[in-house]
Amino acid sequence: MFRLLLILLLIPTPLMALDGSGVEAFDFPSRWGTVTFEHLKHQRRIGDCMVCHHLGVEMGGCGNCHGVIQKLPQTKDVLHKICIACHWKKRGPTECSGCHDPERLDESVYND
Ligand code: HEC
Ligand code: HEC
Ligand code: HEC
Ligand code: HEC
Repeated sequence: MFRLLLILLLIPTPLMALDGSGVEAFDFPSRWGTVTFEHLKHQRRIGDCMVCHHLGVEMGGCGNCHGVIQKLPQTKDVLHKICIACHWKKRGPTECSGCHDPERLDESVYND
C-alpha cells in the first residue's frame, strides 16, 4: 500500500482545480528533491495571476516559451527567480529544503 502511494506520488500529474481556473498542484521533478507547488493555494493567496503568468494565463505553461525560445532564460531559472524573490518578501520558504523534498534528494548532487 505504501509503495503504491509512493508510485502515485512520483507521477507528475497536474490536478485540475474544480472551478477550472487553474491547476491544484504540480510536482516538478528534480535531483535536489521533487518540488510540490501548491498552485491553488498560491492562486488564492496571491490573487493576481499575472504575477507569475506575466504574459497572460492564456499563453499556457512557462515551458511553452522558457526552454523553447532561444535567448529566453530556462524554466528552472525563471521559476527560481520568481518563487524565491516573492518568498523573501512575503516569508515563504527560501532554503532548498523548503521547496525540494529532502527525502527525495538524489545522491548524485553531491558530485556536482
Ligand atoms: C505563484 C505563481 C502563480 C500564480 C499566482 C498563478 N500561477 Fe498558474 N501556474 C504557475 C506555474 C509555475 C505553473 C506551471 C507551468 C508549467 O508547468 O510550465 C502554472 C500553470 C497554470 C496552468 C496550466 C498551464 C498549462 O498549460 O500547463 C493554468 C491553467 C494556470 N496556471 C492558471 C492560473 C490562473 C487562472 C491563475 C490566477 C487565478 C494562476 N494560474 C496563478 C504559477 C502561478
Ligand atoms: C508566451 C511566452 C512566455 C510564457 C508562456 C512565459 N514567459 Fe516568462 N518571459 C517571456 C519573455 C519574452 C521574457 C523576456 C522579456 C520579458 O521580461 O517580458 C520572459 C521573462 C521572464 C522572467 C524575467 C527573467 C529575467 O531573468 O529577467 C521571468 C522571471 C519569467 N519570464 C517567468 C515566467 C514564468 C514563471 C512563467 C510561467 C508561469 C512564464 N515566464 C511564462 C516569455 C514567456
Ligand atoms: C508572489 C508571491 C509568491 C510567489 C511568486 C510564490 N510563492 Fe510560494 N509562498 C508564498 C507565500 C506568501 C507562502 C506562505 C508563507 C506562509 O504563510 O507560511 C508561500 C508558501 C510556499 C510553500 C510552502 C507550502 C505552502 O504552499 O504553503 C512552498 C513549497 C512554496 N510556496 C513554493 C513555491 C514555488 C515552487 C513557487 C514558484 C513556482 C512559489 N512558491 C511562488 C508566496 C509566493
Ligand atoms: C521557492 C522554491 C525553491 C527553492 C527555495 C529552491 N528551489 Fe530549486 N527548484 C524549484 C522549482 C520549482 C524547480 C523546478 C523547475 C523546473 O522544473 O524546471 C527547481 C529546480 C531546481 C534545479 C534544476 C532541476 C535539477 O534537479 O536539475 C536545481 C539544480 C535546483 N532547483 C537546485 C536548488 C538548490 C541547490 C536550492 C537551494 C540553494 C534550491 N533549488 C532552492 C524551486 C525551489
